[in-house]
Order: sequence, then structure tokens, then C-alpha cells
Amino acid sequence: MKRLYLLGLMAGVSLHSIAAQTPSSLLDDKPAFIASLIEQMTLEEKIGQLRLISIGGDMPRERMLEELQAGHIGGTFNTVTRPDNRPMQEAALRSRLKIPVFFAYDVVHGHRTIFPISLGLASTWDLATIATSGRVSAIEASADGLDMTFAPMVDISRDPRWGRTSEGFGEDPYLVSEIARTMVQAYQGKSPAAADSVTASVKHFALYGAVEGGRDYNVVDMSPLRMHQDYLPPYRAAVDAGAGGVMVALNSINGVPASANSWLLKDLLRRDWGFEGVTLSDHGAISELIRHGVARDEREAALLAIKAGVDMSMADSLYQQELPGLVASGDVEIGEIDKAVREVLGAKYDMGLFHDPFRRIGLAQDDPKDRNAENRLHRKEAREVARQSIVLLENRDRTLPLKRSGTIALVGPLADSPVDMMGSWSASGVAKQSVTLRQGMLDALGNKAKLLHAVGANITDDKHMVEYLNFLNWDSPEVVQGPRSPAEMIAEAVAAAEQADVIVAAVGESRGMSHESSSRTSLQIPASQKALLRALKKTGKPLVLVIMNGRPLDLNWARNNADAVLETWFTGTEGGHAISDVLFGDYNPSGKLPISIPRSVGQIPTYYNHLRVGRPYVEGKPGNYTSHYFEEPTGPLYPFGYGLSYTDFDISDVRLSSSTMTRDGGIEASVTLKNVGQREGATVVQLYIRDEVASVIRPVKELKDFRKVSLKPGEVREVTFRVDEDDLEFVNAQLQRVAEPGAFEVQIGLDSQRVKPAKFTLL
Ligand code: BGC
Repeated sequence: MKRLYLLGLMAGVSLHSIAAQTPSSLLDDKPAFIASLIEQMTLEEKIGQLRLISIGGDMPRERMLEELQAGHIGGTFNTVTRPDNRPMQEAALRSRLKIPVFFAYDVVHGHRTIFPISLGLASTWDLATIATSGRVSAIEASADGLDMTFAPMVDISRDPRWGRTSEGFGEDPYLVSEIARTMVQAYQGKSPAAADSVTASVKHFALYGAVEGGRDYNVVDMSPLRMHQDYLPPYRAAVDAGAGGVMVALNSINGVPASANSWLLKDLLRRDWGFEGVTLSDHGAISELIRHGVARDEREAALLAIKAGVDMSMADSLYQQELPGLVASGDVEIGEIDKAVREVLGAKYDMGLFHDPFRRIGLAQDDPKDRNAENRLHRKEAREVARQSIVLLENRDRTLPLKRSGTIALVGPLADSPVDMMGSWSASGVAKQSVTLRQGMLDALGNKAKLLHAVGANITDDKHMVEYLNFLNWDSPEVVQGPRSPAEMIAEAVAAAEQADVIVAAVGESRGMSHESSSRTSLQIPASQKALLRALKKTGKPLVLVIMNGRPLDLNWARNNADAVLETWFTGTEGGHAISDVLFGDYNPSGKLPISIPRSVGQIPTYYNHLRVGRPYVEGKPGNYTSHYFEEPTGPLYPFGYGLSYTDFDISDVRLSSSTMTRDGGIEASVTLKNVGQREGATVVQLYIRDEVASVIRPVKELKDFRKVSLKPGEVREVTFRVDEDDLEFVNAQLQRVAEPGAFEVQIGLDSQRVKPAKFTLL
């Protein structure tokens, strides 16, 4: 209380300013406290709490302060320093009821320190490592006065044309659910009220990753069975882990936009899942109901959204503009407004803001002098996480690891591009603080070997693409064309390659190519870079590809022509060090793909856990009248769960503790894993289950558990998984979760394709 008082004085408000009219004795009784506040609120103040506004684009600062002081804003986003946020909190505390405002931001894969993009985080298959990224993000974001993050983004994506694939954790319901839970816990820490926690707002609810054709903002049309079985579990996992917020998706679902979808927000989220936090619309989504064609006008849009259960409207004025009239006409009952207000106030209560509105903003005297100071970064953690996120796809004749001797030619437009290292949604990351691959290699080599560098190619020579990418909301153009012609750039790179013992080519996508609104029709590495690669190949020098990208790309050429291929996604602030750690063998790669890499766009969707069909394609048999594409091999180029190491692992046959399982019993499935190579290394042992016969068609297999295991050369480890009834459950035609008796197959392997099977029966 003393601290509150001091803070109050410093902020120019009196002691009883914290929700002043409400007795402080109620402060420890959340429902009573909030009820008492709501009782005192005017309709205008209530509606104010439902507005989530971004400073800058949505509203100039002066006006924002006035609106806060008038009690017209519940939360803001996009301001990310304590000195920026403090006056806003002070303004909110000058409002009649002195209700604090909360501060939110898209802290998706790091805040000041940028971690690998989510697809990279998922590639670690290590929940503790992923938790480190979330915890550090929360510590850094809360230290900048933030109370909420618009994350984790847990949209399952089976279509890499979708640019936001980069923001999610891949294609698998189980893996993404585990990560969803982990991230919520990591962001919220011991409690969302803790000073170093931020409230997680899971997004985008729901099914955004299934937009038709991978085209952003497109419709989603999906059977209830698929929804419940595959796409909804990660959001559910985040809710069950206590996420304080849910962001409602921009897309429609089976004809009804999510923001107007009361089945989604009321029946499923609140009634069935018991969600008790706050729901936020996505940016401008309520006005978009008009363009979806389900609302005639703004009045109707606001009506649909509030009735559906969207508590806060982000970045539009429709609630403020329309709700008073809707209440006056009786179309919206005051109880409906109160319900939404209760959730907003409840979230603020849970954030600890009523106890101390400056909990994360702190005192001015303690503000960091330089918000981007080096000592505010967590480089060690970022490097450790990033090196675990790298997936080794090819390594012919043990090209990698590289020796620290001789001459290495480093080429490619991504070899020295700090901004691209960060990937999209890089929060408060500062490009010049990212370690590029060039810098990382220089640091790793010292004077032991010579590093030649040539850009070799523009990201793309396609003018339309450059214009588009620079039109995204960046501060300055990011895709910059060099003054030299493509031929000159290639010639320079080839000259460097010819003097070198090995070529390292950093190619792929600029970060904007895998972003919101960056859907692609092609998964090709742009033509400018492919021309460079072909010229490099002709030198006959060993060619190592370091791929940077936010979605699976077409890697056929790489597979057939490169000597080694590293899938690095976008590795973040310490990316250059992390990739160098792998290139030079200071870290033995252990990442595994969280998403299948297709052979071609035509093959999409290419996901491992697809349903069975009546005419499956059988490898080695004539293909006619079976389910496949006849011009190319069946199945992905690289399967889900795949990733090599510098050592080799041997996995034994599967041993089951019993060939039958009772419902309350469970069985154990074990394998012996041996490191049969020369180096210490880690791999991920993966457990899949196949339900042989069921009342509805079941996938060919489903991931149910995994374990990352590190072994010294020659070391042997028993890995035992427990299989329980809930691992055998699925959603039946009545949308109930059931486990049906009968035959099952356990499959254990180091990727989703090369597995050892064992059968058992559920009695
Ligand atoms: C995105 C959200 C994001 C929001 C706020 C929207 O355009 O879809 O993911 O959280 O902007 O920045």
C-alpha cells in the first residue's frame, strides 16, 4: 500500500485514486471489487473500457491522453517504453473512476532480444527451450511497461502459401498444443499479476491457418470433425493453461465471420471450454463485418460483434460510436455491455493493475537510460535457443561441420542482412543488434581461416515484388536493390567461390515474404537467387546452403545439388552465431521439422497426419487408380519430424509392456536409442499412434509424445513412453471424445516416416 501511495503521489494522483470510489477492502475480492466498480460506471465509461486503441496510426498522442483521461479507452497497444506508457497510465488514473489502462504489444518471438520465429522455436522440439524464449520475452516486455502480448499464435498451418505460417508452430495438433501451453505458462509466469509477467492473448481464434488456398484473410470452410480433431486443440490448450486473453480471428468460419460468431465465442469458448478471460477483436475486424457482407452498416457490425461475445474492439471506433444507440434502442441490453466490461476489468485485475497500475511501468528514476542497451538483451539465451532451432536437411559426405581453415566463400543476399535475421513480427528488436551470418562466421573463425564475402544476388529482381515488400508496414524500405546488374553480382560471387575451398550460400526469403498479407503462389527461392546458386554449382566447389525463410520452400534443387542444407528459418538476434555454431560443429544440430516440406505447390496440403482413403498409393506398386499425383513422387520432400545430426542414432524395435490395454490401465512402449556415431548429439524420439479401425476415418498416424535425448558417442538410452486411454481418443461423428476398443499400432522413430511399429489392442 505504501508503494501504491508513493506511486500515486509521483503520478500526481491521490492515494484513493486507484478505482477510487470502490472501498479498498474489496480489493482482494475480485468479483465484489469489479461489481462495485461496474455499479458506479456510466454507460460511456463502460463502453470506453471496451476500446483497444493503438497510438499513432489510430490516434495521435495528445488525443489519446485526453481520451484516457475521459475514461474512453480500456487498453492500448504499440507503445513499448516506460516513458511512453507512464503518462498514459497517469491520464487514465485522472479519469473519474481512475481505472488503469493496460498496454499490449505483439511480442511473438522475443521483445528486445529476438528469438527464432515460431516455426524455428517449434523446430527445437524442446519445451524447456521454447519456455526460455517465452520467459525472456515476458521479462523484457514487462520491463518496458507492457502488460499483455498478442501471443502465442497457435494457428495450425498446412498450407505454406500462407505467409503467417511463419508465426505459428507448424502443422501438428499435438506439438502445437504442447507449445501453446508452454508459451502461455512462460509469458504469464507464476501469475499474470507478477511484475515480470505479461498476459497471454492466444490467437487467432479460430482456424485462421486454414484460410482457403493459403490466401490471407480468405474464408475458412471446415467440417466440425476436422475442427475439433485437428485445428481447435491448440487454442484449447492455451485456454486450459490459463491464457488471460483470446484474440478473435479475421476470417470467417463456415459462413460466419469469427468476430460475429456466437457459436465460436459463446458456446465453444465460454460454455464448453470455460474461458474466463477477455476476448479481443483483431485489428479493425468489427468494421470488416460490413465487407464480409454480414452487416449492413456500422451499427449492425457493432451489434453482431457484441452479441457474439467480442469484448474489446481493436482499432476501430464502432463500439464507441454505436453501442450507446444500440443500448438506447434496446437492441443491446446493458447486461451484455456489463458482461464485456467485467471481462476487461477482470483481465486488468488479474494483471495486478488495480493493486498497482505502475507495476510494470515502475518509477521514472529507474527507467533505462538507453532502451536498446546491450545489457538489456539476453544474447546467451537467444543463441542457445537459436542453435537448437536449426534443422540439418542434407549432409553429403559429411560436408558439415566445416573446418576452421583454408578459405570459405560466403555469398547470398541473406548472408549479411541484419533486418532479415529477425523475421517478421520482431517486436522491439533492433536490426543492427542482430548478428548476421557473416558476423557470426567472422567471430567463429578469428584469423584461422579466410572468409570471402559477396552478395551474389538481390533477394529478387522482380520489381513488383520489391515494391510490394517495401509497401508492408516497415519503417524504411527493407528490400534494397544493389546498383550492380545481376550478372555482375553473380560474377563477383563466382570469383570468390573459385578461390575458396567451400561455398556457404545464404538464400531464401526476405522476412517480409513470410508475413501477414504475404501469401505466395509459389514456394520457389526467387529466380535471382536460383541463378546465383546454379552459377555457384558450376564451380564444382562444395556447396552448403543456409536457407532463411518463414515457410517451407521448394527445396528440390537444393536437395539434388547442394552438399549440405541447413534450414534455419529466421534465427533472431543471435542467429549468425547460432548458425556458425552449427556450421563449425560447435553445436551438433538437433532440430526437427514441425511442418512437412512439400515437393511442389501442387502437392499442398502436404501434412503427415492425413486421413486414410479407399485407394491409397502404395510405394513400389503401379500407381494407377490410386490416390496420388502421377508426375512426381508421392509424399513430402522432407517429412514432419525430420532432421539430421552430425552423429548417427540407432533405434531398436519397439517393446510393449503388454499387447493389450485396459481402459484404466495404459501400457508402456520402449525403444533403445544408441548414438552409433563419433560425436555427442541430441535427437527427438517421436511416438506416433495409428488407430486401425474406428467409427470414423482416422489419420494414418498421429504424434502423441516425443522426447529429446542427448547421447555421447556409444551411449545407449532406454526411452519409454506411456500410452494411456486419452492418447487413443478422437472426436467421433457426434463430436464426442472417445477411445474405441480394437487394434492400434504404436510407431516410434526419429521422424514421422522412418518408424518401428508394434501392435496392441484396447480391450
Ligand atoms: C494481426 C494480429 C496482431 C494485430 C495487432 C493484426 O493485423 O492480425 O495478429 O496482433 O494486428 O498488431
